[in-house]
Amino acid sequence: MAWKRVCSVDGFAANAVRKFTVDGVEVVAVNLGGDFRVIPPMCPHMEEPLGESGLYQDGVFTCTKHLWQWDLKTGAKTGVAERDIKMYRTKVEGGELLAFIDKPLEYEYVEE
Ligand code: FES
Repeated sequence: MAWKRVCSVDGFAANAVRKFTVDGVEVVAVNLGGDFRVIPPMCPHMEEPLGESGLYQDGVFTCTKHLWQWDLKTGAKTGVAERDIKMYRTKVEGGELLAFIDKPLEYEYVEE
């Protein structure tokens, strides 16, 4: 089992996008409004850091670099995005956000 503590949910504002390092693994956590997602730190398009360029609003997560978007309920791409976003399994226990991290989720990037 590799459930790891990401952060306390106390003070984690709705729609906020925050960066964390969990046991040496960088992640980005998003509060969908009481429901949380934990995703890899880089955009699946061109490695833009989503802790800076990620925006969550009205159910849609956007990388503001080139406006790829995802439905974070499922990770499915929407709009102009060409790849789904990867997500760690998450749960909230005792006011703590936990993610199942046994290895970093990563994307393969193609040189253009
Ligand atoms: S780098 Fe994120 S949309 Fe292009």
